[in-house]
Amino acid sequence: MNIRELLNQKVLTAMQTCGVPAELPALIAPGKKAGFGDYQANCAMGAAKAMGTNPRELAAKIVTALEPELKDIADKIEIAGPGFINIDLNKAWLGEQIAKAQTDARLSVAKSSAPQTAVVDYSGPNLAKEMHVGHLRSTIIGDALARLLEFQGHKVIRQNHVGDWGTQFGMLIAELEEQLGAKQDGEIALKDLEVFYQQAKKHFDEDADFADKARSYVVRLQSGDKEILKLWQQFKNISLHHSTEIYQQLNVTLTDEDVRGESFYNNDLAPVVKDLQAQGLAVESNGAQVVFLPELADKDGNPSPVIIQKQGGGFLYSTSDIAALRYRVKNLHANRIMYFIDARQSLHMQQVFTIARKAKFVGDDVSLEHLAFGTMMGNDGKPFKTRSGGTVKLAELLTEAVERANNLVRERNTELNDTEISEISRKVGIGSVKYSDLSKTRTNDYIFSWDSMLSFDGNTAPYMQYAFTRVQSIFRKAGVAPESLQNIIVINSDQEKALAIKLLQFSETLDQVAREALPHLLCTYLYEVASLYMTFYEACPILKEGIEPEIRDSRLRLCHLVARTIEKGLDLLGIEVMERM
Ligand code: ARG
Repeated sequence: MNIRELLNQKVLTAMQTCGVPAELPALIAPGKKAGFGDYQANCAMGAAKAMGTNPRELAAKIVTALEPELKDIADKIEIAGPGFINIDLNKAWLGEQIAKAQTDARLSVAKSSAPQTAVVDYSGPNLAKEMHVGHLRSTIIGDALARLLEFQGHKVIRQNHVGDWGTQFGMLIAELEEQLGAKQDGEIALKDLEVFYQQAKKHFDEDADFADKARSYVVRLQSGDKEILKLWQQFKNISLHHSTEIYQQLNVTLTDEDVRGESFYNNDLAPVVKDLQAQGLAVESNGAQVVFLPELADKDGNPSPVIIQKQGGGFLYSTSDIAALRYRVKNLHANRIMYFIDARQSLHMQQVFTIARKAKFVGDDVSLEHLAFGTMMGNDGKPFKTRSGGTVKLAELLTEAVERANNLVRERNTELNDTEISEISRKVGIGSVKYSDLSKTRTNDYIFSWDSMLSFDGNTAPYMQYAFTRVQSIFRKAGVAPESLQNIIVINSDQEKALAIKLLQFSETLDQVAREALPHLLCTYLYEVASLYMTFYEACPILKEGIEPEIRDSRLRLCHLVARTIEKGLDLLGIEVMERM
């Protein structure tokens, strides 16, 4: 149980002793300002209102009931302002909690008592093209949440909803066939997907016979023609291989097993449409099958139309998403389904969710979440593009990141050998791109800036990685292994206390990040840990002459927990650390 949960329980007990109705919350929050308690219970105001009594008087009663409950935990419980209850934690008790976290492989983060099955839909590139910067945010934010939920003990099912179906594949397969016929090797022909796509498109636009063939291939593909399917599969494998390489480079946990693209739902589409018709949800309109949603009406009251089958019989992006949702509930037994998709698809997601709920494909017990994110902007405040205005390939962006990090690491250090430098550069470069994204509020647009992401000052990957190496270097200097130290933690100074409390808030921070799917809160937390650590380090000498061995060991233990917390926190964000840099 973390501090917040513990205080919550104790305060609720005290409230009930004072006759507060059981459904009223304790409202526990970490203290916002120094001198206003390490934690606050903000329950008295609301409770007094509900009970028609005076808030300060009620607060006083609660405090009287609370004092014996918190005998060993709190030093001081005070009432402030209109009835805030400020709780100062006891240093000895904090020391014991830190000692416990020290010996726990999970850093005192308990597994969820109510584990869920979470489907996390992220990345989802279109296989006709190469991955570009537009896929970055979904891929890394989704991966951070997948890692975190897994760490909390939830069952996580990753779903990479790749675009692997649709008319453009007819053209691509026809092109692949021609190039293979010219004895080109598939890998070579598709080495650069962008170039290949452009060739196919040009071919399609300029050669009427080729265009006819491409169209006939779409039909053959959709009717399950073996030969065409084989070519399609070949195209898919090579394209997927490109994505998998990017995932590995990015330290993203997606594998080929997580791919469940649009084509997977192919056989479900007709039955889904039939079902929606039978339920009276889908109706014919101009030869197409359409679901009209009054729930999402425009400002003139016109219901939002969602086409689920085109006039010629073709299905759409929405249809596969509805089928996917049904599958995720019925076959994957999901309780929480999280979509990490650009904010520009929010109407699409709302439509899909509304239809799936109305059709009872999804029950009320399942949480459907479109976790939208903003756009990555260039320095000019417009969506991030190459100098010539093209889309930036992810592969190239990552190469540049590692190169830039390499220059930076070389500038700073001469003692490392080349192998070490390239390893460190990789972690710093990739880490910077990821951290700069993850540390921004998910829902906002943000400006992509090499200079700020690679800075050693501020809330950046290099700063966090450097903070980790600094702690490691203390142990090298001390010549001791952390585990060999006595595990008695003495919290004396204010700096030690502030750091200890922050470290013990790891678990509650993770709860909030998981609940709201906001990784930037974890970045902020880690940055605060690192900052409090620097303050502690300046105020509390460790290896200096004259420091008592117990104090030295205790402080080293605190340092060690700082390093492990940073390491674990970064790991949950998919960012690696290094021993030195
Ligand atoms: N392939 C889609 C795109 O590039 C993203 C897929 C997102 N996931 C989903 N279930 N719709 O826009």
